[in-house]
Amino acid sequence: MDNRLYDVIHRRRDVRAQFTGAPIPDEVLHRVLSAAHAAPSVGLSQPWDFVVVRDAAIRETFHEHVHREREVFAATLDASAARRFARIKIDGVLESTLSIVVTYDRDRGGPAVLGRHAIADAGLYSVCLAIQNLWLAATAEDLGVGWVSFYREPFLAGLLGIPAGIRPVAWLCLGPVTHLETTPDLERHGWRHRRPLGDVVHHDRW
Ligand SMILES: Cc1cc2nc3c(=O)[nH]c(=O)nc-3n(C[C@H](O)[C@H](O)[C@H](O)COP(=O)(O)O)c2cc1C
Repeated sequence: MDNRLYDVIHRRRDVRAQFTGAPIPDEVLHRVLSAAHAAPSVGLSQPWDFVVVRDAAIRETFHEHVHREREVFAATLDASAARRFARIKIDGVLESTLSIVVTYDRDRGGPAVLGRHAIADAGLYSVCLAIQNLWLAATAEDLGVGWVSFYREPFLAGLLGIPAGIRPVAWLCLGPVTHLETTPDLERHGWRHRRPLGDVVHHDRW
């Protein structure tokens, strides 16, 4: 048993506030992307692409959009939840070193994707596995990752020139951090608490 993998899994955090903005060496970025690209995928379709975003103007534009969407979400909350949400930072788009946008191409490996005929979402699951590989590899490299989902897909597709039919799945902020918190931000801010394992494991039937 290799305890280092478990250590990385449990050390991984979603990061918003701890990015330093320090550079990421090219070989480190290459290792992290290679780990993402080594993920399993339905029918070996490898339906992901990675857009590395360094451009400050693109990040500014995206950041403004994220903050408009933050207001859209905030308007759906009752007064007590809105107060708690107001204290929570939801992105590190401007403070992180760079971002990686991960996309899903439904047509990759088609038309007969082995294993997807009955479950169309299996392609999307594959992209999420690439994202998790990226997240764990970045943690092993002492980098932080922050997944930002406060955006409308057509807006992000237009901003990055993503071709029609390809879906943006995640905007990931990436970079060196001062430290990784030991408790998720949402737990630290009293938004939600993690469930114990015993509550989610079932035996033989749900
Ligand atoms: C699909 C997905 C979307 C997420 N979107 C956001 C987001 O927009 N902003 C944010 O601050 N965190 C986002 N997160 C991070 C979660 O809030 C975080 O994973 C969760 O609170 C548990 O914390 P941990 O990742 O540090 O264990 C997202 C995570 C996932 C998996």
